[in-house]
Amino acid sequence: MPSDQPSDRREILVTSALPYANGAIHLGHLVEYIQTDIWVRYQKARGHECYYVCADDAHGTAIMLKAEELGISPEQLIETVKAEHEKDFGDFLIEFDNYHSTHAEENRILAEDIYGKLSANGHIATREITQAYDPEKNLFLADRYIKGICPRCKTEDQYGDNCEACGATYAPTDLTDAKSAISGATPIAKESTHYFFTLPEFTDFLKDWTRAGHVSDEIANKLSEWLDGGLKEWDVSRDAPYFGFEIPDAPGKYFYVWLDAPIGYMASFKNLCDRENIDFDRFWAKDASTELYHFIGKDIVNFHALFWPAILHSTGFRTPNKVCVHGFLTVNGKKMSKSRGTFINARTYLDHLNPEYLRYYYAAKLSSSIEDLDLNLDDFVQRVNSDMVGKVVNIASRCARFVTNGNDGVLAASITNTELWQRAVTAGETIAAHYEARDFGKAVREIMALADAANEYVAAQEPWKMAKEEGREADVQDTCSLAINLFRVLMIYLKPVLPDMARQAQVFLNDDLSWAGTIEPLSNHKIEVFKPMVKRVEKDKVEAMVEASREAAPASPDSTDDSAKKGSETVEALADEISFDDFIKVDLRVARIVAASHVEGAGKLLQLTLDIGGETRQVFSGIKSAYKPEDLEGRLTVMVANLAPRKMRFGISEGMVLAAADGTGNNEGIYLLEPDSGAQPGQRVT
Ligand code: 2FM
Ligand code: ZN
Repeated sequence: MPSDQPSDRREILVTSALPYANGAIHLGHLVEYIQTDIWVRYQKARGHECYYVCADDAHGTAIMLKAEELGISPEQLIETVKAEHEKDFGDFLIEFDNYHSTHAEENRILAEDIYGKLSANGHIATREITQAYDPEKNLFLADRYIKGICPRCKTEDQYGDNCEACGATYAPTDLTDAKSAISGATPIAKESTHYFFTLPEFTDFLKDWTRAGHVSDEIANKLSEWLDGGLKEWDVSRDAPYFGFEIPDAPGKYFYVWLDAPIGYMASFKNLCDRENIDFDRFWAKDASTELYHFIGKDIVNFHALFWPAILHSTGFRTPNKVCVHGFLTVNGKKMSKSRGTFINARTYLDHLNPEYLRYYYAAKLSSSIEDLDLNLDDFVQRVNSDMVGKVVNIASRCARFVTNGNDGVLAASITNTELWQRAVTAGETIAAHYEARDFGKAVREIMALADAANEYVAAQEPWKMAKEEGREADVQDTCSLAINLFRVLMIYLKPVLPDMARQAQVFLNDDLSWAGTIEPLSNHKIEVFKPMVKRVEKDKVEAMVEASREAAPASPDSTDDSAKKGSETVEALADEISFDDFIKVDLRVARIVAASHVEGAGKLLQLTLDIGGETRQVFSGIKSAYKPEDLEGRLTVMVANLAPRKMRFGISEGMVLAAADGTGNNEGIYLLEPDSGAQPGQRVT
């Protein structure tokens, strides 16, 4: 079983879901690959044997039709797309140990083996089913390839399973004037033999398995609904023409893409094992003591937490230790949208911005829950600049020159402020636990709290002043050497998130930033001349990326989305003029949010405890729709400190924090004001 002890060398196999080989990687996909990559890099950094494998999901009707549309073979299409995917992943610093394809010999062999075992165990049933069929294309039509008039609201051009206009769900046979979306022909009903995996036989096994810690409670509860409602047999075959593997002894029948896709995890690993002489069975045999983790999105939980464990159980393989499920990406609080320019492809992002900005931002917002992650583009700019540049790199950039110029680049012999140093080293175990639990947001918050402490130390010591004072050379070296050592610790902790910045820090520090054992300070150690490691994000680059994404998008269908109809931007009219004397009556202060919590019974409020430099205030603020309490703790903001206390239903509010809001009164678009780092609680804001 997994152990949290870093001293135990664990053997871990990790996968991310296999992207379909018919489309580009976009920022939504990247939530998962960045999350998994960080987790894997963390495991490797701690000295564990860890393999990260993935592949393109290359089979199915969609890929067959796309190739036909492009006038190329499916093999050509999947080869081209795989090369693009690998390039995108590589440029986002996603480091797979192997990237394969489901359309590969290893996968054919494993899929045939697994299907053969399922069949021999009596877990494959055969039945005749009737389906819609395109008589022109000679093709059975899945629901999404049938279009017609919605039986409820009569809107034209609706898919065979649900109406985008009124939300009705129905069978394709309910559509009026149904047509094949591929040829336009009227579908006919046709029978054929299908092969089914007898999933209901695994109900008891799955009830136990899903409650044994292999998925979160949140997911287990969701799965219970399906398990208690009764599982259905799972159709694992498709009729020709189909791009996939033909089922042995069943001419014209193919494995359904979702059967051989998870087997693709094994196949990619097998390919790696053959190349690097790793024992495949050590990771897949029923009694394997190694660990297996699948990272997936919440839309494909049934495949990974029901079908897949049941298949593995039937066929004598081990099941995963954990299926790690994440939520979807929203951009600026909404579903990604082509018309808004927020459906951003990986390549478009890379054309404009540094991949580590996104890695950092996602890490700062990721948790182990299935809550959606919002990429708020303004917050992205602000947070990357304030944290990566303003907090972390700032420590080294402010102090390095004193060591380079004053001591030939050699760090001092010992640590003077041992308390601060110990705090940074000790935090490592908490940070490690957060990484292990996929609570990267919490890890990042801990790291940034250390960065704040390091910056506060440097600001208080003022080495630039000391350097001008006679006889204080040693003090300057002690201060700056400690600061650089603290920077090193921060970079050790951030290395899984920011591998390229860590690589640059390694050059600067002449050190490998290892986190395998107890971190000791660098003393009497030569460092190199400091070079800037990361630039500030420029807002106009973000805007250009959005513009480029908008341009790349077709005009329909989502150009008629809600925001386009309503007009997404609202600008409030300016308030009446006031005198300067009125203005200076308002006492604005920098405040640190030391605690934040939900208020029972209040839909919009958070309770904030604010430190304004020695004095603590309690404030109720209507920002709940925009912030999670734990994201606020430690942040600086600005408050009105001389507002008369107000008695509210939940207690007394002793002031008000400042936030931008869209003025519609519906609590959307709330952005808490935050001063640049370095501002001190209690400082007057003028
Ligand atoms: O949902 C998807 O994008 C699938 N291509 C994921 C497959 S994951 C695994 F099972 F192969
Ligand atoms: Zn309808």
